[in-house]
Amino acid sequence: MLASCQEQVYPTDNEQLSHEEQIVIRFSHVVGENTPKGMAAVKFAELIKERSRGYVEIQVFPNGVLYKDGEEMDALLRGDTQMIAPAISKITTLVPEWSVMDLPYAFKNADEVHTYVESEIGQSLMTKLNAHNLYSMGIWDSGFKQLSNNIHPIENVRDLNGLRMRIMPSDILAKQFSSVGAIPKRIDFNTVFNQLQKGKIDGQENTLTNITSKNLYSLQDYLTISNHGYLGYLPLMNHEFWNSLPKDVQILLIETLEEVQEWEWQLAEELTAQWLKEMEACNCIKIHYLSDEDIEKWASAFDPVYDYYTDSFGEKYIQALPKYQTHH
Ligand code: SIN
Repeated sequence: MLASCQEQVYPTDNEQLSHEEQIVIRFSHVVGENTPKGMAAVKFAELIKERSRGYVEIQVFPNGVLYKDGEEMDALLRGDTQMIAPAISKITTLVPEWSVMDLPYAFKNADEVHTYVESEIGQSLMTKLNAHNLYSMGIWDSGFKQLSNNIHPIENVRDLNGLRMRIMPSDILAKQFSSVGAIPKRIDFNTVFNQLQKGKIDGQENTLTNITSKNLYSLQDYLTISNHGYLGYLPLMNHEFWNSLPKDVQILLIETLEEVQEWEWQLAEELTAQWLKEMEACNCIKIHYLSDEDIEKWASAFDPVYDYYTDSFGEKYIQALPKYQTHH
């Protein structure tokens, strides 16, 4: 119902504003639009546009079209883009303590991850980002990583021996593979398809949404549902840029992100289940599932990775992992 003339405060149609008058936030990321991150970025942009009536415009650049993997962090720090949501493994090049999240079998499910990140120790990791001019706005899921390759089925951890496996830039991920005899290769996300096609690598680890959205499975014969590690994102802004925003805009962004985050978690779970079903049905890749018993064996095979982390950063981040907490 329309309000009467007296009480009506006409909303300004801020879409008429020029870019100089608007607040424009360029949000660059490297994955497809049909992934949990891609869809959450678009939803966030739509909600902000609607709620600020066009005063704040979030321009989303997916698939590395604006800045490629390996470039986006520098672009954010230079202020050339205002928002990114890199995989946590990539943040470890700045704050290596974050690689606790890369430890194999550190978490059983996404809820455990969220609880860890919200805990005091998780928040202390968040705070470390401030020293690098980064402002973190929560955590988004991609899901748990699986293993694919085209040499032979990976059923036992020793089957990884000798395989050239693509990883994100994280020393812990490198250690994860080298400790079981595989050869880790740090390769940008957007060139993984090409490197697989050229036979420069045998396999890779990633979440099902990333494996399917980039068609990586079409180049791979074997998939192991190992759920061996978490892949998630920190939506980040340049801290200086964040501080320059008006308080009411900061509040709008934070409140909207809280809502989008909940939605994104759910979406990541749904898309993962949906893609697994489709891959099972397509008969295009041979899928092997690790049993609970296998997982216990795999997890102990990765013990040296935990020692390696502890040697570098002490025990506190590991001790706070859910599997070392006693439940009452
Ligand atoms: C991403 O999900 O942002 C990319 C992850 C990767 O590099 O594998």
